[in-house]
Amino acid sequence: MHKAIIPLLYVLIFSVSNLFAGNGSKPHYNDKDINHIVSQLTLEQKARLLVGCPGSDKGVSHIVAGSAGYTFPIDSLGIPSINLADGPVGVRITPVLPNKPYTSYCTCFPSTTALAATWNKDIARLEGNAIGDEALAYGVDIVLTPGINIMRNPLCGRNFEYFSEDPYLSGIMGAAMINGIQDKGIGASLKHFIANNQQTGKLYNDARISQRAIREIYLKGFEICIKNSDPWTVMGSYNKIGGQYTQANPELLRTILRNEWNYNGLIVTDWYKKRDTADQLNGGTDLMMPGEQSQVDEIIAGVKNGRISETTLNKSVKYVLKLISKSISNKGWEYNEAPDLAANAALARRIATEGMVLLKNDRSFLPISQGAKIALFGATAYKSIAGGTGSSNVNKAHITDISTGLEKGGYTLSNRLKGLYTKFVEFQNDLLDKHPESTDWEKLSYNRTVIAEMDLSKAESIIGQEAKNSDIALIVIGRGSGEESDRRLEGDFYLTPEEKFMIENVSSQFHAAGKKVAVVMNVCGVMEMNSWKDEPDAILLAWFPGQECGDAIADVISGKANPSGKLPMTFPIDYFDIPSSRNFPMVGETKSGKNFDYTNYEEDIWVGYRYFNTANKAIVYPFGYGLSYTNFSFGKPKLERKNEKWVATIQITNTGNVSGKETVQLYISAPQTSIQKPSVELKTFGKTRELKPGESETVKLEFTDYDLASFDEANSQWLTSKGEYTLSFGASSKDFRATLPLNISKNRTWKVNNVLRPVEKINVMKFPLK
Ligand code: BGC
Repeated sequence: MHKAIIPLLYVLIFSVSNLFAGNGSKPHYNDKDINHIVSQLTLEQKARLLVGCPGSDKGVSHIVAGSAGYTFPIDSLGIPSINLADGPVGVRITPVLPNKPYTSYCTCFPSTTALAATWNKDIARLEGNAIGDEALAYGVDIVLTPGINIMRNPLCGRNFEYFSEDPYLSGIMGAAMINGIQDKGIGASLKHFIANNQQTGKLYNDARISQRAIREIYLKGFEICIKNSDPWTVMGSYNKIGGQYTQANPELLRTILRNEWNYNGLIVTDWYKKRDTADQLNGGTDLMMPGEQSQVDEIIAGVKNGRISETTLNKSVKYVLKLISKSISNKGWEYNEAPDLAANAALARRIATEGMVLLKNDRSFLPISQGAKIALFGATAYKSIAGGTGSSNVNKAHITDISTGLEKGGYTLSNRLKGLYTKFVEFQNDLLDKHPESTDWEKLSYNRTVIAEMDLSKAESIIGQEAKNSDIALIVIGRGSGEESDRRLEGDFYLTPEEKFMIENVSSQFHAAGKKVAVVMNVCGVMEMNSWKDEPDAILLAWFPGQECGDAIADVISGKANPSGKLPMTFPIDYFDIPSSRNFPMVGETKSGKNFDYTNYEEDIWVGYRYFNTANKAIVYPFGYGLSYTNFSFGKPKLERKNEKWVATIQITNTGNVSGKETVQLYISAPQTSIQKPSVELKTFGKTRELKPGESETVKLEFTDYDLASFDEANSQWLTSKGEYTLSFGASSKDFRATLPLNISKNRTWKVNNVLRPVEKINVMKFPLK
C-alpha cells in the first residue's frame, strides 16, 4: 500500500469510530507527561505530530466536520487529534450531516471591523466568550481568530476581517477577544503574523517595510495581544518579510516572538501554500496545516540529513503536545447540549447596533418613529450582507434581511418597492447564482450572492410616486468583500452608476416633496463618500452586521438602540489621497513585479490618521468619528502616576435627552526629535456604560512610558524622549475635548534586536512632504 494512504485510512477509521461518540471523559495526558511522551515517540510519529493530518481540510475529524483541519492522533500514546476551525466572526464548521443526530449551526457575529467600531473591550470579550461556548459545545479545540492585520489601504479584500488602521485599537480589541475565547478553555489563533495587507500576490509578496514601521505599525498590535492575552497559537502569514517567508523567518518568529516577547504557545502556518518544511521548522513554525504527506517526509529526511536538529524537532513536538494537552479533545470532550444560540444571537444584535457608526444626521432626522411608511430602496435591503466571504464565513441558521428587520421593528414598507425588489432579487439570484445545486444552509453562507444594484434610471416616475406616498426614503448600499481578492476602485470603492443614480434621484425627489432620506451602508469598509454625502439627510454605516443584520439596523433606525460606534479607520476624500495608493496593487492589472512580488511600504508609519492629521489633509470622516442621538460633555481630566503606570481619568456626562454611550480616545503628541512623530497617536481608549440623560461616569485610561515610545531605528531601541507631551482626550482623532500636559524628565530606552531589515532600503515618506 502507498505510504501516503496509511495515515488517511488510519484517520478515517479513527474518525468514523469516534464520530459524535465523544472519547471518554478522562484526560488522555497532561502537561507533566510531555517529556516522557517525547522520549517514546519515533521519528515518524514526531514528524506526523508536526503536520496536520493529510487531507484534514476536507475530512471529518473525530468530532467535527468542516473545520479547517486537524492534527494527527497517536492512539497508542493517548494523543488525540485536535481540530482547528475558522474564524473571525464565529465558528465555521459543517452544520448538517446525514447521520449526525444534531445540527451545529453557529452564530455569525458582525464583521471584525464592526466589532472594532464598538471600541468596547468588554463586548469583544463577550463575543469571544460566545464563540468559545459554541466551540466547546460542538467540540472545536482551536478557533482561528482574531486577524489583526493593519488596514493600510482600503482596497485590501480582507479588511473586513481586521480591526483597524491603528495598532493600539487592533491590539487591545484583539486581546479582549482572545481572552474571551480562552476563558472557555478553547484556544485562539492570533493571525496573520505579519503584514498580510493585500490579497494580490499574497502568497509570494515581500512586504518591504522599514524597521520602524514594522515595529510601530505592523508588529505593535501583535505585541499588545501577546502581552495581554497569551493566545494558544499564532498563525504565520503567507507573505514574506525581510525577503523571507514569515513562516520560515527566525528573526520574526524566534528573535521577536519567542525571545523578545516570551511567547510560549504554538506557531502554526497559514493554510494553503506549502513551503520548505525544514526552513519552516528552523524558522520557528511548529505545526504545518492542513498537512501534506510530503511535509512529513521532508521532516524525516531533514532530521536524517542534519538540516533539522533533534533539539529543533523536539521543541516543536513539545509545543504541539502542550497545545493538545490543554485542548477539550484531550479532556475527553463529548457532545452534551447545543450552545445557547438565542442568547448569542441577541449578543450579535447588540454588538451590531453598538458598532454602527452614525456618520450624518442633519436636524436629528434619525431616529424615525415606528409606524412610519418607508420607501425602501436598494437590492441589499432585501437580500442583506451578513458577512464577508472566504474562511470568515460562518454557517448560520438564518440571516434577517434589512427589509424584514424594519417590518418586524414596526415600519410599513412601500408594497410597490417591496414587490419590485423581491422580484429583482429573485431574478438576480437565479442569474448570478454560481451554485444553484447547493443546499439551503450553503446558500445562506458560502454561496450567498451579493446582488448588484437595480437600475432605476427608467423609473423616475416610480421614485416620484414613492416620494408622494411614503413618509421617508431609506436607501441601502451594499458592498461585499472576501478573502479571495482585493477590491477594485470602479464599482466598489466608488459607487456604481446605478447606486449614484439611486442616491441622487431619490434624494432630490424626496426633498422636492419635503421628505427626508437616509442611507444605510451595508458594506465591508471604506468607500468614496465625498461626492454623495451631502445628498441624504442621514447616513448610517452598518458594516457587515452579522446574521441579525435587519433587526440590528431597525434597532438603530428606531432609536431603540443609540448608535455609539466610532470609525476604526479614516474615510479619505479620494482613494488617491491615501499614501499607500502609490504602492498598492490594482486587481486585474498588477500581475508581477512591483506591488505583486514585492511591495515597498513607502508611506512608512504614516498610515491612516497618522498621515492625514500630520499632513493636515482634508478627509471626509476622521478616524474615531461617530455621532450619537445624544451629546456628551468631557470634564477636566486628571493624571496620576501609579506603580509605573500613568492613570488618566476624565468624567463624561450625557448632556442630551436620551441614553447613550461615549468613547474617550486618548491620543498623545510627542515632542519632536530627530525621529519625526505623528501629530497625534492613539494610545488607549475607554467607553462609558449606557448613561441616562444627565448621568456621568469617570473613565479611567492607563498607559505606560513604553507606550509613549517611538522606534529609534538607528539604535534598535524603543525611545521615549524626554520633554513635553500633550495628552488629548478625543471624541475622535479630530475632536479633542480636553488636553493635559505630561512631562517626561529623562529619556527612557528599551533595547531590541536589529532584525527584519527590508531587502532594499525603502524611500520612505518624510515631513514636510515634498
Ligand atoms: C486563511 C486563514 C484561515 C485558513 C484556514 C487561510 O487561507 O488565510 O485566515 O484561518 O485559511 O481556513
